[in-house]
Amino acid sequence: MLSSGSCSFQDHILGLFSNSAEAEANYAAARQRLLAALANWRNQTANSLSPDPDSSSPTNLLDYFEQLERTVIRNSADLASPLCMGHMSGIYPRFMALIGELILSLNQNLVKREASPVLTQVELETLAALHRLIYNQTSGFYLRHVQDHASTLGLVTSGGTLGNLTALWIARNLSFMPRHDFPGIEAAGMTRALEHYGYESAVIVGSRLMHYSMEKAAALLGLGTQNVLLLPVDRDNRLETSALQDCISDCATHRKRIIAVLGIAGTTECGSIDPLQTIAEIARAGNIFFHVDAAWGGPLLFSQQHRRLLSGIEQADSVVLDGHKQMYLPVAASALLLRDPTAARAIEKHSHYMLQEGSGDLGRRSLEGSRNGAALFFHAALRLIGEQGYGFLMEENLRKSRIMAELVRMRPEFELLSESQTNILLYRGLPLALRGRRMSPFSSEEHAVINAFNERLQKQQSQAGRTFVSRTTIALGNASPAAPLVALRAVITNPLLQQHHMQSVLEDQVSIMAELENQADRETSGCFAVHPVR
Ligand SMILES: Cc1ncc(COP(=O)(O)O)c(C=O)c1O
Repeated sequence: MLSSGSCSFQDHILGLFSNSAEAEANYAAARQRLLAALANWRNQTANSLSPDPDSSSPTNLLDYFEQLERTVIRNSADLASPLCMGHMSGIYPRFMALIGELILSLNQNLVKREASPVLTQVELETLAALHRLIYNQTSGFYLRHVQDHASTLGLVTSGGTLGNLTALWIARNLSFMPRHDFPGIEAAGMTRALEHYGYESAVIVGSRLMHYSMEKAAALLGLGTQNVLLLPVDRDNRLETSALQDCISDCATHRKRIIAVLGIAGTTECGSIDPLQTIAEIARAGNIFFHVDAAWGGPLLFSQQHRRLLSGIEQADSVVLDGHKQMYLPVAASALLLRDPTAARAIEKHSHYMLQEGSGDLGRRSLEGSRNGAALFFHAALRLIGEQGYGFLMEENLRKSRIMAELVRMRPEFELLSESQTNILLYRGLPLALRGRRMSPFSSEEHAVINAFNERLQKQQSQAGRTFVSRTTIALGNASPAAPLVALRAVITNPLLQQHHMQSVLEDQVSIMAELENQADRETSGCFAVHPVR
């Protein structure tokens, strides 16, 4: 600890900002220590975290980095391991670390042009490239709108949640625009908007498998989470479009204003893709804003082989793409793309000290204020991986996903629950007494036993820490039982993942299942030795 008032205290504090020779040497030593610890951390056993250090007086740089090595670094999850198959983000190409360092070093602020003269331009051009991927307009269109301060082709956000929220904010405002003496919902709020337009409520409509960020958006936008209408899905976990049509008629009858119909290009839980083309047609016929949440599946557009899975997305009014998922950017970088470059005017804000009208400052239309230059991650990826590179990666992910499905299918210890259109697989382990029953359906008691078994399996696997898949509880498709099943969720997205890794994950689960059975025998609870099947 350094005591305040001493000369070394002041030197220490100012040295943290300085680039004097001494400060540089200190910094270089700390950096070297950090890099050495990072190079090694995967091989080290986790410690228990020490209590928060006393922050009343500053610690010197090397001591702090030594603390980090023992606490934070050793205890972090290894999301980049091919044996960790449960998360939607984790590994990124190594050059991203350099780009990250560059972003931090330059520390530009994208809220305002003069605080980020080049990166504002980089962001605009990068968004144009992503816009083209979805909407494929002419070069002239992009030339014009990238330069025009009144246009917004999209926004970089820190995460899909903020992208979805921004899209629905725009959709809400477009639904209740200023009219006659009504100043618009943004100024007047929800109660007056409903009153003026003659509605009982405002709702968002989409499949029951939509991401929970929609509920956050509904809460923040004053709709209320009960006004997120969750519709059934078909046997492939895709929005049931006849239910959407019925819902739209019902909303008209009950004076519910639909601010947006949602299509999902890759559901979080099982990777299914809604029938975007049909949803687009229904939304257009009803003159309803159509938002596509392509946080997960969006990069399929890079693949000539698979982009047809997303056909109809080009008719969406807005699309969210997560950079940190299948574009392999570091957390958290996402993009919202807008078909109509004037749409974001509906959320525009000004201030006297900056963001003046016509300024071209990106902060006028972004939910976030100060933002770093995360667009540079997208920019680097589009240059260094490129459309062809991403096409290859997506095709590999889907190919490997089919291999994983086959591996699961081949083993009597498991049951494949859903082989999605993309690369998220749901399956479950079966207790010994319930194996080999492929043709006869399980009773609801048996499902309950299997659910408990899988919950323990996944918890134990996670605790053991050798391999990882995630777990969800889901009522799949329109199949019976309607009661939710506990499912193991494998996310096949790591480019370094190979068949032997998948086999290792399954082997690990098989050995844990054997342990669970032994444990149950020892406890003589007969927990998984289900009552004889009739
Ligand atoms: C389909 C979908 N939409 C939105 C999100 C939210 O993204 P983020 O976690 O980047 O906010 C997720 C995250 O998993 C997702 O899967």
